[in-house]
Amino acid sequence: MTTDFPLSRTTHPTPGAERAAILADPGFGRYFTDHMATATWTPASGWHDHKIGPLEPFSMHPSTAVLHYAQEIFEGMKAYRHADGSVWLFRPDANARRFARSAARLALPQLPEEDFLTSVAELVRADEVWVPTPTDEESLYLRPFMFASEAFLGVRPAARATYCVIASPAGPYFPSGVTGVTLWISSEYTRAAKGGTGTAKCGGNYAASLAAQIEAQEHGCDQVMYLDSAGENTLEESGTMNVCLITADGRLVTPALGTILEGVTRDTVLSLAADFGLTPEERSISLGELRSGAADGSITEVFAAGTAAVITPMVGFKGEGYAFTVGDGTPGKHTMALRDHVLDIQYGRAEDKHGWMRRVL
Ligand SMILES: Cc1ncc(COP(=O)(O)O)c(C=O)c1O
Repeated sequence: MTTDFPLSRTTHPTPGAERAAILADPGFGRYFTDHMATATWTPASGWHDHKIGPLEPFSMHPSTAVLHYAQEIFEGMKAYRHADGSVWLFRPDANARRFARSAARLALPQLPEEDFLTSVAELVRADEVWVPTPTDEESLYLRPFMFASEAFLGVRPAARATYCVIASPAGPYFPSGVTGVTLWISSEYTRAAKGGTGTAKCGGNYAASLAAQIEAQEHGCDQVMYLDSAGENTLEESGTMNVCLITADGRLVTPALGTILEGVTRDTVLSLAADFGLTPEERSISLGELRSGAADGSITEVFAAGTAAVITPMVGFKGEGYAFTVGDGTPGKHTMALRDHVLDIQYGRAEDKHGWMRRVL
């Protein structure tokens, strides 16, 4: 049985002219729509009080568990407006399933996947005027999250959880064109250990990544490439994106699941690889293989896959005492073809052979 998220509209929507000015240059994560979806969980009542109401601040007791013990999870996805005005989500069921897995790992209650999907779709419908009409890669970014909202001090699963979805219009990730990013291969920091929270999308993972991100910037790099924490010198992923290599003999290789986040975009490119004449391969990739492959040309392209930037060419790497480029240091042809194809599916310009798109408006 599905639960409704009944809408009570704000009496103070953002004035049309102000909204138009925001949509003309939304950037990323800076502006928010007029409404939010919420639901509350307690052991006695389960999930209750589902609603879509005006976007408003939470009021919290200073002892609220999430503020102390970081019992929190989130998702990131987008709504896309097609040329005929309709609005669609891309593989929202995959985000719903990952949200459930993250909840299990963080000892948060399970939100039924149907309720996740309903809340996201209903919020998009309530805030339809905020879904950009794309001239480039504009979309409405959706951020479902859940946190321990019980007021108590003590390390145990909270007896109250709050679920919420907010939405934020997003501009193109690379406004001046896709040129590729440079990665810092950290030998100081790792992201996840076996048995840890690497496979969950929980806030704590991102808090722990910030010092590494500063280290990358100090070395003139855009982002971090994490290696495994067991000292085996194998590639894991970047801070918010999975990594894929393309080899001269036509393979698309990405690290196997285990301690990395199971990205929706990663799975998408694995599914599309064959259409581009590439054989998908999920396995361990050593740093040595990346370095020697980039040097002798057996690795021709490297890219990152994630919802925010879709596919980002990784053109150069630096680590303690070394630096190298991939190919000639510019985005590769398979990378850009895959990028264009995923965007074409998302924006309704290419046939959705896999049934990934879900219409909401
Ligand atoms: C650590 C990490 N890896 C990979 C990804 C890519 O996942 P997706 O393609 O589902 O956005 C993300 C973004 O959600 C992430 O935060």
